[in-house]
Amino acid sequence: MLIAVSPRSLNALNTFMKVADARKDVKAGSEGKVLPKETDKFAYGDNVQVELTGGHIKGGVLEFAPAIDQYLKEHLFADIFARGVLTYQEREIATISALSSIQGVMLKLSVLIVLTILFVAGFAYAITQNNKGDIMDNKKILVAYFSWGGNTKFIAEKIHSQVGGDMFRIETAVPYPTDYNEAAYGVAKKQHDENIHPELKDNGDVSEYDVIFVGTPAWWYTMAPAVMTFLEVNNFEGKTIVPFITHGGGGKYNIAQEMGQLAKGAKVLTPFVVYGKGDSQTDKELENWLKKL
Ligand SMILES: Cc1cc2nc3c(=O)[nH]c(=O)nc-3n(C[C@H](O)[C@H](O)[C@H](O)COP(=O)(O)O)c2cc1C
Repeated sequence: MLIAVSPRSLNALNTFMKVADARKDVKAGSEGKVLPKETDKFAYGDNVQVELTGGHIKGGVLEFAPAIDQYLKEHLFADIFARGVLTYQEREIATISALSSIQGVMLKLSVLIVLTILFVAGFAYAITQNNKGDIMDNKKILVAYFSWGGNTKFIAEKIHSQVGGDMFRIETAVPYPTDYNEAAYGVAKKQHDENIHPELKDNGDVSEYDVIFVGTPAWWYTMAPAVMTFLEVNNFEGKTIVPFITHGGGGKYNIAQEMGQLAKGAKVLTPFVVYGKGDSQTDKELENWLKKL
């Protein structure tokens, strides 16, 4: 196997070593997060790329060399972006700064630049989409969530502690089995396959609220059926829905868009998406997300 070591990489490592040495007394930042082994990294990376750019990037060099698409998604957008030591924005800014400081690279790497510009444009879009001012000012807030195993409840409580307002737990009239296989592969799978939106123990009442955080676990590639019922039986006309999603590796799917289809007349904002009940980075990520709403 041929191993090529670029002199630039060696120069970078030498510079990095000097910087690390000069800063050895500075308190270290948090450890990077490592994705759980069972994560579908391609799907994870694909979700991140869509989040960055607002859509799927196809064709061109990605079609010519599909391996680079796989590498970008599984390694760059999954392994590296998931580390969480930098926000997506900080990472992009660092990338552009580094590229622009390397003489001659800008011309030679025109393909990369085009991709980078696309990513940055995606960022700018995402940022303007997010920076809608403080939507929670003087608004009545409800944090509604469904949770079978406790992860979404955990995140709902974190959100509630930040935004205040009222809380509502969405529960089905007939509780799900407590056994995972019976719940996941029995009742929930049947409801998913047959598009059953189960009756709720209490439909809740969103009429007095302006902003409704709606939390769901990812269940069979979409939101939990109980949340579908909640969105259908309540009148969301003119309200703002802020989704939050916990998942087991599949990401956010199209849950936010699907919430918009069920909650007629609602405006749906960018969801907060977290694996399981989160990790040491979650509070910071949550705070950043809330700030941008
Ligand atoms: C019925 C069922 C279906 C699930 N389907 C998915 C899925 O399609 N994609 C995924 O990433 N995780 C899936 N999971 C995992 C959950 O989304 C994840 O564990 C979530 O954090 C659970 O939230 P909870 O503890 O609030 O119930 C599923 C779990 C269950 C019980």
